[in-house]
Formats: sequence, C-alpha cells, structure tokens
Amino acid sequence: MRVIIKPDYDTVSKWAANYIVYRINKFRPSATRPFVLGLPTGSTPLGMYRELIDLYQKRKVSFENVVTFNMDEYIGLKPQDKQSYRYFMEENFFKHVNLKPQNIHMLNGMTKDYEKECSDYEKAIRQAGGIHLFIGGIGTDGHIAFNEPFSSLSSRTRVKTLTDSTIKANSRFFDGDLSKVPTTVLTVGVATIMDAAEVLILATGENKAKALKHGIEGGVSHVWTISALQMHPHGIIVCDKPATKELSEQTVNYFMEIEKNNF
Ligand code: GLP
Repeated sequence: MRVIIKPDYDTVSKWAANYIVYRINKFRPSATRPFVLGLPTGSTPLGMYRELIDLYQKRKVSFENVVTFNMDEYIGLKPQDKQSYRYFMEENFFKHVNLKPQNIHMLNGMTKDYEKECSDYEKAIRQAGGIHLFIGGIGTDGHIAFNEPFSSLSSRTRVKTLTDSTIKANSRFFDGDLSKVPTTVLTVGVATIMDAAEVLILATGENKAKALKHGIEGGVSHVWTISALQMHPHGIIVCDKPATKELSEQTVNYFMEIEKNNF
C-alpha cells in the first residue's frame, strides 16, 4: 500500500485530481476502449471534484471516453432529492464536464427490485471491462462506500443498513435531523471495490485518524473495512497531516521518506 501524506485538505484534493487526470491520459481512452472510473460522494471528495472541473476547463483532460460507476445511493431518495447521491454528483461534477450521460452509472435507490438492481450493477461493471481506478473516502468507523463495520470483505453490491454512528455523521446533510436520514442504502461491496485495478482512498481531518490507524497499522479485519486495502496490489491512501495523528511516528516517517520523490 502507498500512503501519500500531504499538508492539508487542498493539497490532498489537488493531488487526487491530478492523479486521476494522469491515469486517464496515460490510458489514452477511446470510444471502444474507455477508461472506467469508480467515484465517491461525501464532503472529502468535494475539493477533488472542484480541481477536476478546473483541469477539464483548462483542457488538461477530457471525460468523453470515460465511464463512471458511483459507489452507493440511499434507498428511497429520488434523483432530484437534494440529499441523494445522484443530485450530489450532478451538482458537484457531472454537469460541469463532458461525460456522456450513457456512460454514467449510479445505483437507483428508488428501485422496487433491489436484488436485480444490484446484480445488474455488478454485471454492468463486468461488461465495462472492470474498474480501472476506484476513488473512495472513509467513514469515521473505517467504512468504505457504505460497507459498515462487520461487512464481509468478500461482499458485492447489495442493500445495507446504516449504523447509528453513520446516520448521526450523515445527518449534517439532512438539516441535522436524524429521522430524515434513510436507514438503508444500496452500496457496492468491499470485493467490488477491491476488484478494481487500482484503488485510491482520500482521508482528511482528525476525525478520520482512528480509521486510518486501523486501516494502515491494524490487521485486515471486517471491523474496519478500509483495512481490506492492505490486500490490494495497488492501493493508495492520500491523506492530510491531521488524519495521520494516530499513526506511529515511525509509520509517518517511513511513508514521508519513501514517497518524497514520487507523483
Ligand atoms: C458516506 C459515504 C462514504 C464516504 C463517507 C465519508 O458514508 N457513503 O462513501 O466515504 O460518507 O464522508 P465524508 O467524506 O463526508 O467524511
């Protein structure tokens, strides 16, 4: 696993956006051979999306031949609901770049047939040739996508029930009203993410420090689903200084030293 430690939120966002652009351009995608990108929501990737839009406007990247798959969606929220992840993606990224609507994939939280929706999603990822680069964030309890603690590390796209701690954390997007937060979601599984050729996880702020400690220094465990990244051949965590607060000095020094001349 690579761990890139940057001084603050802005440098993490810039690094992540530039890395995505580097990967897309290096791949030289075409209509018949698109680049397949996995995408997250949450407050952490907001800066990265802003940077990506900026790079697109500066013509450093085109999304014409990029296919996207988002990680998750709340059950029961319509795409036009302001708290839905669909709405988040439209507002913060999709409407600003040249992604083709038919290349955008998001789980439909309004579906009546969850099982079909989830297996169709897995099938669509397979048909696209798999995900080249999956971007993600982490919850304070170490969840990736909505794979809450004790999710199977072999899990696939499915329905999940949110923990009280995630409902509380996400209530900030629902006027702080816990009762407005959907209790169930559709989410890609840990194994769906780990199938990607490369996985890049963003973690910023001191409230992610505990999750990062378990993800990087702890053993692989379903208690902290982020720790599955240790088994991935090309896993990267990009984080800011505050998020490293619970890592040992030795770990921080190791990654600072070994990554000092890398992209
Ligand atoms: C939600 C999302 C995750 C995200 C997490 C952290 O639970 N399903 O994908 O990583 O929130 O969000 P934030 O970046 O706002 O801390």
